[in-house]
Amino acid sequence: MVEFTEGEHNQEGYNPIGPVRRDFDRENIYREKGRAIIDDPDLQAFLTFLRGSVREGSLLNLGAGSTHWYYMPAVEDKVTCITAFDLSAKNIQALREFYQALKGEAATFQYAEGRDVENLKTLIEAIARYKRYGQGRTPEGITRALVAKSLTPDGKADLIVGDYYDLDRSLGDRKFDNIMMTFAIFAPQGVHELTELPLFKQIRNHLNPQGRLIIIDFQEFTEENIETFGEDPIVTQKYHTNLTIDQNSLRKALKKAGFESVRVRKYIPGTEGSLEKEEGMIVILATAEAPQ
Ligand SMILES: C[S@@+](CC[C@H](N)C(=O)[O-])C[C@H]1O[C@@H](n2cnc3c(N)ncnc32)[C@H](O)[C@@H]1O
Repeated sequence: MVEFTEGEHNQEGYNPIGPVRRDFDRENIYREKGRAIIDDPDLQAFLTFLRGSVREGSLLNLGAGSTHWYYMPAVEDKVTCITAFDLSAKNIQALREFYQALKGEAATFQYAEGRDVENLKTLIEAIARYKRYGQGRTPEGITRALVAKSLTPDGKADLIVGDYYDLDRSLGDRKFDNIMMTFAIFAPQGVHELTELPLFKQIRNHLNPQGRLIIIDFQEFTEENIETFGEDPIVTQKYHTNLTIDQNSLRKALKKAGFESVRVRKYIPGTEGSLEKEEGMIVILATAEAPQ
């Protein structure tokens, strides 16, 4: 097992458990007197927005990162199948390890440790308990459904290493009812406006009629942020340009790509002492529909 310090690149390079421990840390997700708690209003707000935005049917998580399984428990009962997609093979490997752990399979892991799996299980327990994520759900039921709904027809976990700027190559003619991107819009060198992104049109082509694109992202992301957020260099070497994802330009870009019923709003993270508050970050929440 690789020794790893949170949020840092170790000598062996990028470790996909870093973002998991940073964004879903044990200070905010824990058990108290036997009850599982998510002590992070921003995370709860994002999960609530996702839950309220997905429509029935399949779901593709683009730029799913190593944190994909932390978002899925909030929407699992609303969707029929779940696919994760990321450019970093290390992120996908970490997701595979969590998947095996959820399945209860004995395996040797390269990245995830017991405490990471425990932390995910605590989040699942909290989601089962909070009414805002649906009633009558049990941690066991959520876990079973996550495993069952993330299977390909040949019985493997539906986890894809691929570039979302070349969706056809990885997805062929597969289409989805929901495509979500959370903190995952990166731009190729030389692109400085959302409306220039060759991304949304491709996404639209992989949505079923009236399929929904769901976006959560920071309004501004500086070069410095990209460094501290410690992505896999495989990704940042290729896609390093930061964009301002303000409400107007996102609305314009989605409409230009042929989306309808575009809704874009701001969310101001409010947790005292949270990174977002310190850096004055604004988050954009958006949904858009592919035409009939
Ligand atoms: C900041 S992380 C967010 C991860 C996760 N969605 C979350 O909200 O925690 C951005 C993710 O987008 C992925 N990514 C960036 N560009 C990509 C591309 N062109 N194709 C696929 N994934 C990409 C990165 O590998 C990384 O996992």
